Amino acid sequence: MNPMKKMLAVPAAVLALWAVTAQATTDEAIAERLKPVGEVCIAGQECKGVEAVAATAGGGARSADDIIVKHCNACHGTGVLGAPKIGETAAWKERADHQGGLDGLLAKAISGINAMPPKGTCNDCSDDELLEVIKKMSGL
Ligand code: HEC
Repeated sequence: MNPMKKMLAVPAAVLALWAVTAQATTDEAIAERLKPVGEVCIAGQECKGVEAVAATAGGGARSADDIIVKHCNACHGTGVLGAPKIGETAAWKERADHQGGLDGLLAKAISGINAMPPKGTCNDCSDDELLEVIKKMSGL
């Protein structure tokens, strides 16, 4: 092949390829591309992805760990302001003995004590949830 023909052959091949790909673009593909980015969910119709968001937004049951991570760990993780540290059972035991057991600790957790804010900032936590969290953090 002479150099001139070679130079023409390459763009021709590219063009041919482009033509094939262009033809493969169906109306469906175009509709897909024109779809709006955000879709409105209509009541009564299936709406993918919404259930997952609702579950993390407080719809589903939260575990003691969820509450600890969200509300208690900021202080009890490292012992900020003298907070008893998570897992340091001896420190919690001393407090429990002082307050008359786990129920006493729960009462203080609900009311707050010194730098410890009422309910440890988890205002929508039930007493049962707080007790579970205290048990988990203290190991008692
Ligand atoms: C802003 C920091 C902070 C947060 C957030 C926090 N605590 Fe505390 N907590 C403390 C401090 C400080 C103490 C020690 C208070 C003292 O005895 O002076 C404490 C003590 C406690 C005690 C022992 C009370 C007693 O009678 O000795 C319990 C139980 C407790 N916290 C539970 C929780 C729970 C449950 C959460 C999360 C829902 C939580 N705390 C979140 C700072 C915090």
